[in-house]
Amino acid sequence: MNRFSDREPMGEKGAAEEHRFTTQVLPAVNASAPAITEAAERIRHGELVAFPTETVYGLGADGLNEEAVAKIFAAKGRPQDNPLILHIATLDMLDTLVKEVTPAQYSALQRLWPGPITFIFEKSDRVPERVTAGGSTVAIRMPTSEVARSLIAQAKTPIAAPSANRSGRPSPTTALDVLEDMDGRIPLILNGGACDIGVESTVVDVTEEPAVVLRPGYYPPSMLEKFFPGVHLDPALVLLNGSSPVSTEKSTSPEEGVAPPKSPGMKYRHYAPSAEVTIYIGEEKAVESRMIHDFYALSEKGKKVGFMVFAEAAKELSLLLPPEKAVIRSLGIEGRIDTMGQRIFQLLRELDRHHCDAIFVHGIEPVGYGVAIMNRLMKAAGGKSIYVS
Ligand code: TXA
Ligand code: MG
Repeated sequence: MNRFSDREPMGEKGAAEEHRFTTQVLPAVNASAPAITEAAERIRHGELVAFPTETVYGLGADGLNEEAVAKIFAAKGRPQDNPLILHIATLDMLDTLVKEVTPAQYSALQRLWPGPITFIFEKSDRVPERVTAGGSTVAIRMPTSEVARSLIAQAKTPIAAPSANRSGRPSPTTALDVLEDMDGRIPLILNGGACDIGVESTVVDVTEEPAVVLRPGYYPPSMLEKFFPGVHLDPALVLLNGSSPVSTEKSTSPEEGVAPPKSPGMKYRHYAPSAEVTIYIGEEKAVESRMIHDFYALSEKGKKVGFMVFAEAAKELSLLLPPEKAVIRSLGIEGRIDTMGQRIFQLLRELDRHHCDAIFVHGIEPVGYGVAIMNRLMKAAGGKSIYVS
């Protein structure tokens, strides 16, 4: 039994035969919640546990146990060539997992951890190849979430954890999102409420000089500059951000003709709901009228459209459009980018639950944290964006 009963059944093939667990959802709102002790016990026994972090929910296993780590790939349907992040609770857990940390890197880590940022190091022999997908480097993060760190500390092992979604789906930012994807596939979900940030960590490769941001996140390169002089975005990501000049009114395939991103996870179509997503870029009024125009074209064909727009537009569209055909959700007040970040994955999932055929999203300028938000949205849209002037 679980606490959420109004969900869709899992549609995919293969789900039925893997349906082996009764998934428990237990509350864990602070570091001393008793459920964390049970979860840590399960991790020590090689089982999977989903847990909250400040970015998104993770699907955790003992990162030093190959068999346990293999279960993560099976439960997610994750490609074997996509490596995992090891999560640690204290800096002293780092030493045995990596080959070398320079004094400059060490002092940066002391400032930036715990936090929504992951670093890539040369791995030590202790890290199983399954974690790194056979590679010589390992990704490591110390999360801010006290529940997450308490779990790691009690399990007394680094916890390997990708985002707790089925592969290709939007990352989960609530326990309900995790349950939607993982019901029956894992024994336990720790429910710590909605994630504060809502977008996955910044991934920084510090084996390169200067350091390279392989996946944009809450901490943009400009904020990392003083710790890692010359740090910059992986050039392969620039087109995925939507920051390149893309011609108006054209569906673009942003990954064409570019070297594949160095972070393996960035090359997959990702974060995608079932509905077709389109990003609209431009001034609020212009975007709103273009969305209305496109909405009527689709609703004539019997399609239902979900909207992710800023508060003002949400209010206006709710008055203008028929509620049975248009599901309108607010990304918060325009310019409050943290609120937008908290909502993007959650709303993509929610509009899927409403069986929307299409989702229209108002995009933002890809600067600062906006680079990460646009990176995720452009991937959810498969690059389909419309510039409105
Ligand atoms: O915020 C987060 O990072 C969340 C929470 C749970 O901590 N985790 C997360 O994990 O987003 P995942 O597996 O969904 O994404 C990890 C990303 C992938 O793009 C993966 O390819 C990349 O990090 N990655 C992992 N190890 C790597 C390595 N050794 N070299 C390059 N990229 C790596
Ligand atoms: Mg992920």
